[in-house]
This record gives sequence, C-alpha cells and structure tokens, in this order.
Amino acid sequence: MDVASPLLPATPQAEEIARLFYVDLVIAGVIFVVVAGLVATVIIRNRKRSPDDLPVQNFGSETLEWTWTIIPVMIVTGLFVYTMKVMHEVDPKPVGREADVEIIAHQWWWEVHYHPSGAVTANEIHLPVGRDLLFQVRSADVIHDFWVPALGQKVDAIPNHPNYAWYDVDKPGTYLGTCAEFCGAEHAWMRIRVIAQPVPAFGFWVEEQLLDARPPTGSAAKAGAALFAKHTCMNCHSIRGTPANGDIGPDLTHLASRQTLAAGVFRNTPENLMKWVSDPQKYKPGSHMPTMDLRRQSFENIVAYLEELK
Ligand code: CUA
Repeated sequence: MDVASPLLPATPQAEEIARLFYVDLVIAGVIFVVVAGLVATVIIRNRKRSPDDLPVQNFGSETLEWTWTIIPVMIVTGLFVYTMKVMHEVDPKPVGREADVEIIAHQWWWEVHYHPSGAVTANEIHLPVGRDLLFQVRSADVIHDFWVPALGQKVDAIPNHPNYAWYDVDKPGTYLGTCAEFCGAEHAWMRIRVIAQPVPAFGFWVEEQLLDARPPTGSAAKAGAALFAKHTCMNCHSIRGTPANGDIGPDLTHLASRQTLAAGVFRNTPENLMKWVSDPQKYKPGSHMPTMDLRRQSFENIVAYLEELK
C-alpha cells in the first residue's frame, strides 16, 4: 500500500509529530465541548420567561477572572513546552559529517544523491530500513519544500541554504510525498516516492544504480542512442557510460528501472514514455524539457533506447 498520511507514521520522528497532533486534538476537543456546553447551559437556564425576567447580575467576580486566565495559560504553556520537546527530538542533532542522502529540488523534479556510494537518481528515493539517515535538502532554483508525510517533518529547499533532517524509516513500504511550497506552474507535479527496503535489497539497488548504462542492443535502440546524442537531449541529461553528462534534467542512466515519469505525471510504461518524450509541453507545460520537432519514427527510436536503460 502506498502511504501518504502523517497519521500512518513510518519513522520515530513522524510518530512524535503524530502524537503531538493527537494530544492537541484531544485538548482542543475537550475545550470545545466545555465551551459549547457552557454556552448551551447559559442559553437554556437564563432564557427569558416573562417580560421583566432578568438573570442574576454579577459584577467583578475575581474568582471567575482568575479561573479563565490561569487555566488557559496553563494549557498553552503545557502545549508550548511539549511542542518544543517534539521539535527538539525531531530536528537534527549537530553532526560533522556528510549527509547520507542529498536532495536537490528543481522546477519541477527532485535530484537525489547518495553518499558515500555516489548513486544518483530522481524523484524516487530508495532507502534502507532501520538506518538513521541524515538528509540534506536544498534547491537549484526557487524555494520548494520536501514533504513525505509518513517520514515526518517538512523541510524547506532553499537556494544556497542547505537544511537538514533525520529520517529513520522503520518499516518497508512505499511512502508518497510532494513539494509543499508553491514553486511555479507545475508545483503540483513534483511528486516524491520513497521506497523503503530491507538493507540487502537496498544494497542491491545501489549496486545496480552505480553501473554504467547498458549499450543499446536492438536496431531501434541504437538509432535512438544516436538521435539522443545528436539532438539536444544530452545537453541536459546524463547517461553514465556515454558522453551525455548534462545536469539540467534528471539522470537517465537507469530510467527504465523507475516506476514513474516526469516526477509522478505518468506511470513508467513505453506508451507513456512515448507521450512524454514526444510532447512534454502538453503534459507538463512550462517544464524545462522542450517539445522537439522530430518525426514519429525518431521518437519511437529514442523511446526504444530509453526503455533499455534498466
Ligand atoms: Cu516545488 Cu512546489
């Protein structure tokens, strides 16, 4: 099941935040019931029964004034202290080491680097279960916000100002997230998939990602590779093991191993890849990927090439 709720926490950090929410909810609920109950009681008990019927008039009750001052102050102080405690526990402790996962937000996709392995991917973040991982989040352009609710806190992605978060995913699963700061026309299509795996499966995935791209085999794929190199594709995209080393768009070395395309716009199928490659501006208007003026056969060859990049 794909989880996208902060109330189904997958890390101790998200659990703390969910608990804070429930505590706030219960206290707010009790206050609501008490206030609404008092209002109803006053209305019913003091309703006018005859033309000159007035309720008992009280002036300057010190007891009442102290009561309605002290009780709210105590509640607010308690919530403040508890919130500070949760923020302290969820926020990163200072460390003098490199982040395990580096997230760079772009209009409108996520670049992901792993340290120290050097693996690179986009939009789909594989993580090992049961490891306390330090994330660094920053931006290549405008302000974005990295938020995977089941993992815990949101982290602003700000140009030239890295932010940090700890996430320790304790159950395998797929956790969905999205950009949570309006960042332009395609803000809604900046989805995140976190795929949390047992450590051996994660290790296997990293090893696969570190391999160079497979050379094209079929004749269509070979023609596609030539087109990829000839047209502007390689100015923006990297395919490790080939001369393509652009860093504007996502690394495509293992594109075919991903579940989705264009930061969540499509499921990754050959038909959808064809739609995306042949007319990205139709499906994600304003994205940096241009719609190129090529023959259909050329697009089919490029798709055949990309489909081999497992
Ligand atoms: Cu990136 Cu909103």
